[in-house]
Amino acid sequence: MAASTIKRIGILTGGGDCPGLNAVIRAVTKTAIIEHGWEVFGIEDGFLGLIENRIHPLKKTDVSNILTRGGTILGTSNKANPAKFAVGKDAVGMPIFKDVRDKAMANYKAHELDAIVVIGGDGTMSCAATLLGHGAKFVGVPKTIDNDLMHSHITFGFTTAVETATEALDRVHTTAASHHRIIVVELMGRNAGWLTLSAGVAGGADVILIPEIPYDIAVVEEYCRDRMAHRKACTIIAASEGAKSLHGRQYIAKTIVDSPDPIRFGGIAEALRNQLEATLGIESREVVLGHVQRGGTPCAYDRVLATRFGFEATKLLEAGQFNRMVVVQHGEMTSVPVEEVADKQRLVPRDHRLVVAAKAIGTCFGE
Ligand code: F6P
Repeated sequence: MAASTIKRIGILTGGGDCPGLNAVIRAVTKTAIIEHGWEVFGIEDGFLGLIENRIHPLKKTDVSNILTRGGTILGTSNKANPAKFAVGKDAVGMPIFKDVRDKAMANYKAHELDAIVVIGGDGTMSCAATLLGHGAKFVGVPKTIDNDLMHSHITFGFTTAVETATEALDRVHTTAASHHRIIVVELMGRNAGWLTLSAGVAGGADVILIPEIPYDIAVVEEYCRDRMAHRKACTIIAASEGAKSLHGRQYIAKTIVDSPDPIRFGGIAEALRNQLEATLGIESREVVLGHVQRGGTPCAYDRVLATRFGFEATKLLEAGQFNRMVVVQHGEMTSVPVEEVADKQRLVPRDHRLVVAAKAIGTCFGE
């Protein structure tokens, strides 16, 4: 593929934040300036900043000392799809959407950007994909604690979230054991169970409930009853926020109508705790880990991965390989077209080897 003639690039972070975003911003900015002599522009709050023309130069000094910082120095938004942008509400409070791609592209051109590095998940990649026919050029970098981006075996932010959730499970374990309780811990992940599966195994959860394996509450009850009857000190249940019952029931906390992905899960831990307490008569508690899983310093693994992703993104730009997302497959860096990632999800296969291994050591998946 022909080498590009890049001079100025933009960079944005979209969707929910996660640890390691700043490490990618730093790697892209430093490589662009030091290796290539390109100018770099930070676009504030994801695609919202492109629509609203909030774009500022990024110098090397702007990205010094951000490697270890959680969140994103650029800000982010999960409500700014240029093809379907909420511009107000109608009489019944429903959002009125407008196509503002021309506005976004006018700002892209006004800053003479040759391409944008888009750091985000599937929703952010689909926003990028809507601008492809309008002359924009992109390179994607996969972020999310959910680890559910198609074609990448790992995303940055995931390992830090696993560490955080594992530590929480460890702490819950000791108090649950002292009181001989059942504690249900609710983890994030939307419809993907990677975070709950990994943290559940690492934290020694007795029951792991993930969306990909519908659970039968009667099986979970029987498992807990049996454990407690055999004088086990406690039972820890790691439940994914999007875990489904056999009847397909999921617990939805709220709907954000102007968000491209409007459903926000929540409530499974409380519901399961109530049910188990009522049927088993064992005093139980629930813990919702929530946004704690998204915050804080990236672990060493994510700092390295984020730096590698940032560097690889600039290699794609240099090579003129636009509209592709950097991915890791079998430990190696490669890339795939952005359209192959947009609006898709990589879920846990029911026969994933970690599921099989967890079952082999007696972990209950509620089936
Ligand atoms: O996709 C990342 C994620 O943290 C999910 O695990 C979670 O369901 C969702 O975002 C929460 O979104 P918000 O920050 O809008 O509450």
